[in-house]
Amino acid sequence: MSEAKIQIFPDLEELSRAAAVRFAELARQRTDQGKVFSAALSGGSTPRMFLGILANPEFSERIPWDNVHLFQVDERCVPPDDPQSNYRMIRSVFLRPVPGAADNFHRMKAEEEDREAASAEYAAEIEKALAPAEGNAPRFDLVFLGLGQDGHTASLFPGSAALAVSDKWVCPNYVEKLQMHRLTLTYPVLNAAREIVFLVSGSGKAEILRQVLEGARNPEKYPAQGIQPAEGSVIWYLDKSAAQLLRAGHGHRKSS
Ligand code: 6PG
Repeated sequence: MSEAKIQIFPDLEELSRAAAVRFAELARQRTDQGKVFSAALSGGSTPRMFLGILANPEFSERIPWDNVHLFQVDERCVPPDDPQSNYRMIRSVFLRPVPGAADNFHRMKAEEEDREAASAEYAAEIEKALAPAEGNAPRFDLVFLGLGQDGHTASLFPGSAALAVSDKWVCPNYVEKLQMHRLTLTYPVLNAAREIVFLVSGSGKAEILRQVLEGARNPEKYPAQGIQPAEGSVIWYLDKSAAQLLRAGHGHRKSS
């Protein structure tokens, strides 16, 4: 991939703080213009600290939650109180402590037996809140993504069926190696976003990050490479450990 915008922070805490600052900044910009601010949140472990910081009154009290719609990027097909549930993580670190944030939170009901129907229902919720013009994809203002050690992002895993989905905003995806069903946002809706921020932390991600950012393009193998919004921006927020194998320079904007 060429010309990825990259920011490197000393550690996960600084990275998470920067993510909270960006969220708050964009939320205020949109809502000050009288618009609804929409964001989609990933699960996994990396966003925990960012969500915890965002829940801090220093940030949360200055965000007009009435006009903020929050969605999930993906969900594991487990009940919402299962330890593997992304919703459970988001609820415990963020929705519970922030008054008002849960009111417009859209949970992916991935535990439902009919996963196609649950996906279609979620896509309809997205369309209702984001109100795209006829024939256009809904555009999230901000999407936070993570990167798996196998190059997946959202629940778009290497070689999986969801990579080829071009006519839906949400779909079920079976992840062979985890033997687990997930629901995930698809490329068409992710790539319609106004801004996408990847949060990647830790030395365990260094090698895959190098391959995704500096290797040959092959989204079937490295699904994160398929994130290329047509009219939006992608920024990688990395900590030093994750970024340690990247070549210096070559168009990356580094700050630390
Ligand atoms: C999930 C995610 C997934 C995640 C990456 C990185 O449900 O697992 O949404 O795409 O972002 O796997 O996960 P970590 O942050 O745990 O490394």
